[in-house]
Parts: sequence; structure tokens; C-alpha cells
Amino acid sequence: MKKTILSGFVLLLIFATCKTARQSEKTAVTQPALDCSTMDVTYSFDIKPVFETFCFECHGEKEAEGGYNFMMISEIKRAAKSGALLGSIKWKRGFSRMPEKAPQLDAQTINKIECWIKNGMKE
Ligand code: HEC
Repeated sequence: MKKTILSGFVLLLIFATCKTARQSEKTAVTQPALDCSTMDVTYSFDIKPVFETFCFECHGEKEAEGGYNFMMISEIKRAAKSGALLGSIKWKRGFSRMPEKAPQLDAQTINKIECWIKNGMKE
């Protein structure tokens, strides 16, 4: 009887420890909101070069994969407004991961694009 109580207690302890570990994992994942107030991002200077390097190959003159030709700023704006642009470059669930079959863009570039959108997509 004593043994049962003891092992029950040990099990409870293990369970409790697991739970706290999981909770701290959760808080670590939460990210602070992106502050765009000091970011001056323009299409010609910051955004276009990124699309030229990473996206035109499949979303340009030769091909317009997914129906997007990003050589036209209007198409970039359309993808931005629908949420597909950020969804795809942030690799969010429900969107195709972009750039396709390549590593994810670096965090700084993703932030730049997000701030460009947040700040009104200046040309
Ligand atoms: C190697 C080819 C390739 C490259 C490079 C590429 N894409 Fe795509 N993209 C595709 C294909 C193919 C589709 C359509 C099929 C799909 O949605 O998976 C697509 C679809 C999309 C969509 C629609 C996704 C959705 O889920 O609605 C967006 C937005 C997009 N691409 C953005 C980008 C951006 C931004 C870049 C550059 C950072 C990029 N793509 C680079 C091939 C590419």
C-alpha cells in the first residue's frame, strides 16, 4: 500500500514538471509586436531589389506562378492586401512557403516587407 502511494506521488510529480516545462516553452515562442515607427521603407529602394533577387524568377516575365507577376507593383500590393504575401514569406500555415524550394528570407528582410505594408506601401 505504501508503495502504491509513493509511486502515485512520483507520477504526479513527473506530470507536474512536464506541465511547467511545456508552459515556459509556450511563453518563449510569443514574439513582441513589430515596431515600424522608425522604419522608412520604400518600394524602389528596399522592396523591389528583394523581389528581383528572390521572386522574379517565378513571378515575373517568364512565369506568373500562382497568378502573380511581381514585376508590377500592383500585383505586390494585391498579394499584400489579401494577406498571401506575408503568409507565404513567413511560412504561415495555410499558405505556400516562399520563395519556393529555397531557404526562408532572413528576419530583417521579412520585417522590412511587413513594415512597408504597415506603413502604407510607399513607392
Ligand atoms: C522557384 C519558383 C518560385 C519562387 C522563386 C517564388 N515563388 Fe511564389 N509561387 C511559386 C508557385 C509555383 C506558386 C503557386 C503554387 C502555390 O501556391 O504553391 C507560388 C505562389 C505564391 C503566392 C501565393 C501563395 C498562396 O498560398 O496564396 C505568393 C504570395 C507568392 N508565391 C509569393 C512569392 C514571393 C514573395 C517570392 C519571393 C520572396 C516567391 N513567391 C518566390 C513559385 C515560386
